[in-house]
Amino acid sequence: MKERSSFSSRLGFVLAAAGSAVGLGNIWRFPYLAAKYGGGSFLLVYLILAVTFGFTLMIAEIAIGRKTGLSAIGAFKALDKRFGFLGVLASFVPIIIFPYYSVIGGWVTKYLASFIGGEVQAAAGDNYFTAFISQTGGPILWFSLFLGITAVIVILGVEKGIEKVSKIMMPILVLLTLVIAIYTCTIDGAMDGVIYYLKPNFKNFSVKTILAAMGQLFYSMSLAMGIMVTYGSYMKKENHLEGAVRQIEIFDTGIAFLAGLMIIPGVFAFTGGDQSALSAGPGLMFITLPKVFNSMPMGGLIGTVFFLLVLLAALTSAISLMETIVSIIIDKFHIKRLNACLIVTAFSFLLGLLPSLGFGLLSDISLGEMTILDIMDFVSNSVLMPIVAIFTCIFVGFIIKPKVIADEVKATDGKFKSEKMFNVMIKWIAPWFLVAILVSSVANALG
Ligand code: PHE
Repeated sequence: MKERSSFSSRLGFVLAAAGSAVGLGNIWRFPYLAAKYGGGSFLLVYLILAVTFGFTLMIAEIAIGRKTGLSAIGAFKALDKRFGFLGVLASFVPIIIFPYYSVIGGWVTKYLASFIGGEVQAAAGDNYFTAFISQTGGPILWFSLFLGITAVIVILGVEKGIEKVSKIMMPILVLLTLVIAIYTCTIDGAMDGVIYYLKPNFKNFSVKTILAAMGQLFYSMSLAMGIMVTYGSYMKKENHLEGAVRQIEIFDTGIAFLAGLMIIPGVFAFTGGDQSALSAGPGLMFITLPKVFNSMPMGGLIGTVFFLLVLLAALTSAISLMETIVSIIIDKFHIKRLNACLIVTAFSFLLGLLPSLGFGLLSDISLGEMTILDIMDFVSNSVLMPIVAIFTCIFVGFIIKPKVIADEVKATDGKFKSEKMFNVMIKWIAPWFLVAILVSSVANALG
């Protein structure tokens, strides 16, 4: 049998996995949630959850992948025949997310091009975004471009494509985030935003804060969709798993934190402290921020750098989504990587046409307020992901038992510092939290 490809080093693994984790969620969703749920108190809750709940789930997924050396669909089955369904369920998540994530990636690419072309003023116009996404050809073209770039990197393979690209893109991403964060914090009126973001405001604190932080964490760390299982299957035994997970978390949380410093003070300075401008959804990134950039000195340059950064973040996440699907196909049908990539690209292109057209030609297809893109997002993130995560906890906690995971973590040097916490979390705490997320997000959607 051909040896499974792998990341060449722990750093390569960490950067690729962090590349998956750091994405659109860190850049627009995290700052918005932090602003909505009480600034510093949200940050604190998020941090505590990251090192307990997020840590536990990520350890479990990466260990399952490394132990079996298989992609999501085979990995659960290899450990217990009855749990093959879990792999199948997990595989549906990237299959649904990848196409619409690439549609949004296309929008980001288009904005980058507009900013490079000096169209800052136009992009800051009220109807620019809506007019663009309701077209037919334009958005499809940019979506295809984004999909094409992702496909080329995945075709090149784990070490030559994904690892190499992550090693270049991730350090650039950190640098750009730092530059913009420092810049926006120094413009007039930004300090109020910084204070608002960092100061704990327990008045806005409730169970909802915890659930919101939890839902965000789980999406942000790319959990419950087979990605970390797949990346784990490419991780070498000589690389320490627990240390790697810590580094991925620091990366993901660090970028999310900086994104808050980059966006909240900027929006505050622009609106004179009106936090409703931070409202969720694509509106913040594609409508409000261009206006903020337009109002800043050197806004054209800063906006260009910003959209470049968002593009890098989106690309490395899209790569992980595509790789997860590709590796499932390779494992299952034993076909060449190139062919698997072509199939996934063609399929995702066709499926992506729906959300891309969902704001124009197909805007009649909707569920209440939800467009096609929202529906795909809801099914994958709010329904499937929590279900997969709940079953993963049950699977590890009660079927194969946490010891199997602990042994895998210890395979490098016999150490697993947080083993006790891991055992308690995976069996008794994480599943309940996840049930709460599932119930609350479904209840939210139902109105
Ligand atoms: N983790 C990514 C983010 O924070 C989102 C993502 C979800 C990426 C699913 C890949 C797959 O934006």
